[in-house]
Amino acid sequence: YLNYLVEKDRRDIVKTLLTGLSRLEYRGYDSAGIAIDGESDTEVLLFKQVGKVAALRAKIDADKVLDMDKTFLNHVGMAHTRWATHGQPSERNSHPHRSDPKSEFTVVHNGIITNYKELRTLLEKKGYMFESDTDTECIAKLAKYVYDSQKGSKTITFTSLIKAVEGAFAMLLKSTHFPNEMIATRRGSPLLIGVKTAKKLKVDFVDVEFGAPEVTAGTDQPPVKRDQSRAFLSEDGMPQQIEYYLASDPSAIVEHTKRVLYLEDDDIAHIDDGDLHIHRLRRDDGNQSSFRTIQTLEMELAEIMKGSFDHFMQKEIYEQPESVVNTMRGRVNFEECKVTLGGLSKYLSTIRRCRRVVFIACGTSFHSCLATRAIFEELTEIPCQAELASDFLDRKTPIFRDDVCVFVSQSGETADTILALRYCLERGALCLGVTNTVGSSISRETQCGVHINAGPEIGVASTKAYTSQFIALLLMALQLSEDRISMTERRRQIINDLYELPRYIKETLAIDASLKQLAQEVLHKEKSLLIMGRGYQNATCLEAALKIKEVSYMHSEGILAGELKHGPLALIDENMPVILIMTKDSLYPKVQSALQQVTARKGHPIIICNKGDTNISAEYRTIRVPQAVDCLQGILTIIPLQLLSYHLACLNGVDVDFPRNLAKSVTVE
Ligand code: F6R
Repeated sequence: YLNYLVEKDRRDIVKTLLTGLSRLEYRGYDSAGIAIDGESDTEVLLFKQVGKVAALRAKIDADKVLDMDKTFLNHVGMAHTRWATHGQPSERNSHPHRSDPKSEFTVVHNGIITNYKELRTLLEKKGYMFESDTDTECIAKLAKYVYDSQKGSKTITFTSLIKAVEGAFAMLLKSTHFPNEMIATRRGSPLLIGVKTAKKLKVDFVDVEFGAPEVTAGTDQPPVKRDQSRAFLSEDGMPQQIEYYLASDPSAIVEHTKRVLYLEDDDIAHIDDGDLHIHRLRRDDGNQSSFRTIQTLEMELAEIMKGSFDHFMQKEIYEQPESVVNTMRGRVNFEECKVTLGGLSKYLSTIRRCRRVVFIACGTSFHSCLATRAIFEELTEIPCQAELASDFLDRKTPIFRDDVCVFVSQSGETADTILALRYCLERGALCLGVTNTVGSSISRETQCGVHINAGPEIGVASTKAYTSQFIALLLMALQLSEDRISMTERRRQIINDLYELPRYIKETLAIDASLKQLAQEVLHKEKSLLIMGRGYQNATCLEAALKIKEVSYMHSEGILAGELKHGPLALIDENMPVILIMTKDSLYPKVQSALQQVTARKGHPIIICNKGDTNISAEYRTIRVPQAVDCLQGILTIIPLQLLSYHLACLNGVDVDFPRNLAKSVTVE
């Protein structure tokens, strides 16, 4: 995270860094730290604190050193909020990490350095004393080692360093040897650069062409400033005030600028004297585009603020009447019963002719694939399978050129899903991305795809992204099946209910108070909760159990009702809390029989059923939702369970948006 500012005082710089950091907090929140320039070019001030950004802020506020009368013409600062992978959450393990007590090199890093043990052993043999248990610290120490042994060569230091580290990373480096400069690079983890200039630019939205890969040239000369790489000039061609903001995701920078450039793997960005240069680590990557487009973010600051809600999770649950409309906007013609997903148009015939569709995802995104697989198969008559990305890779699943692989990911940055994507690309399959994050790795590395347009999802527990993924996958099936006459009536039914969906969702949200009561009166002291259903509702059961586990820490299990008699029935007695989903679809009679199996063992389930269902005896507590066409009903059954998990979490005193041990974007394997 970098500021390049004109005549700012230190408090301003720190404030900018801390605000940006708090916007990124949902990605990791066990400790935080910042590094800013001290009194001279050779001094770095480091602040670290265990806990959330607020704790770091309090520590810095109490420190008088920042009140020294010092303004800066330009300044490089960096900040980091951590989610532990190597080493406990602690002050000494939090970033930034330094090469030595004088902080000759300072680094922040997102990802995992897989060869850190070898690097650490090597550096320890050379006499380096490590201060932390992290993989990141070896980057700073290695930078110093290479710098010292190369007698101060900037280019060799950075290229050797980046070539030596293996794994997934996005990192920022600053050095007292190169004051007011910053190096940023990525491989596998996201990194973007926001650019803010005071004046209107003469060269607006110009693609930045790479300089020749000067960094690999092994010379100490500064990179050649080619015209194309100087995209940022004022109208009169004079240098002007310019600020660069580097971050793992746009929410950290959107309040400063909406103009961003996404780095590709192995790009090395070098910011020096107000100029941005992008270099390539390797010369031989012929397929790599030599342009990086400056894009305009569509995100608004208000979208990443909580507004009148207590938590982001709650806000995002309540946004669903609008977020599902945003997923459909401009894509569904309700009168003509037609769906057009622009991102797929060139590939429709290839997809229709494929051997099978393989959905690949993790967690909640995987559940959205399960929720729509049956309707996808029914409408398209293409065999579909849903795979958990990690297991898919562990099994080295056979993939062929005539397979279509669909990668579903809210963040577009989940490491397991990205690795599965690269595996399928290598095998020649057509790869589609379904993500919520424009510019994310998955949306860039897939050949085509669909953005779900749910808006930023900040709460760690995914809610609105699930329902929007559900809709996006259903829209794909509707578009692929539009030439199937036999499906006309079915398609019409579904598209009609898509039109009604926002209204149904609002009606469902209106029962929130009764769900809070249910949590308070019946469930929150329980240790365990079973959620049962079958057919279209199986995905709802699994997703609801995941939601309850992750935010309320109560054990919960989603059970396919057809499997009850094969084992889970043993758990049922008068004390085991059960929720049974029994909505009106073709499987209703079979779910009734599951209800009997449970009640025969003295179970007393809470039943999720449709409004107006008169078959349900008054002895049961019910959660009533509007009735929609079978394949859409899962949207209306998950929403009360999202709300229930939210209330259980609040009652259990959990910091709902930041549940323990979890991060929003899992960019490590
Ligand atoms: C649960 C949750 C996770 C994610 C999973 C995949 O609430 O959010 O299970 O769904 O980590 O993340 P994405 O969708 O970003 O690939």
